[in-house]
Amino acid sequence: VSGKQTVQQSPQSLKLQEGKSTAFNCSYSDSAFQGLQWFKQEFGEGFTSLFSIASGEKVRGRLKCTVNRNERLSILYITASQPGDSGTYFCGVE
Ligand SMILES: *[C@@H]1O[C@H](CO)[C@@H](O)[C@H](O)[C@H]1NC(C)=O
Repeated sequence: VSGKQTVQQSPQSLKLQEGKSTAFNCSYSDSAFQGLQWFKQEFGEGFTSLFSIASGEKVRGRLKCTVNRNERLSILYITASQPGDSGTYFCGVE
């Protein structure tokens, strides 16, 4: 986040049965939006960049990310969740 940009993520936390699918929302405030990144932090480890996206949709294996610039909303989808998906997911807006 930079400047007056505010970013809200929801849900704050989530427990999911293995094999189920879910989605995380990231909404941002600023119309000067240039792009967005989703990161994952595994317990006690560093950050991994999952997606860098400015608009539309990107897919990476079981993960998918969308950005809707009109709604100022990005959604990270996880399908067929696995134990290794556990961790903390962050979205960062540029
Ligand atoms: C995520 O955004 C979608 C689309 O606006 C909304 O329907 C859904 O309720 C949101 N989910 C959460 C957990 O905020």
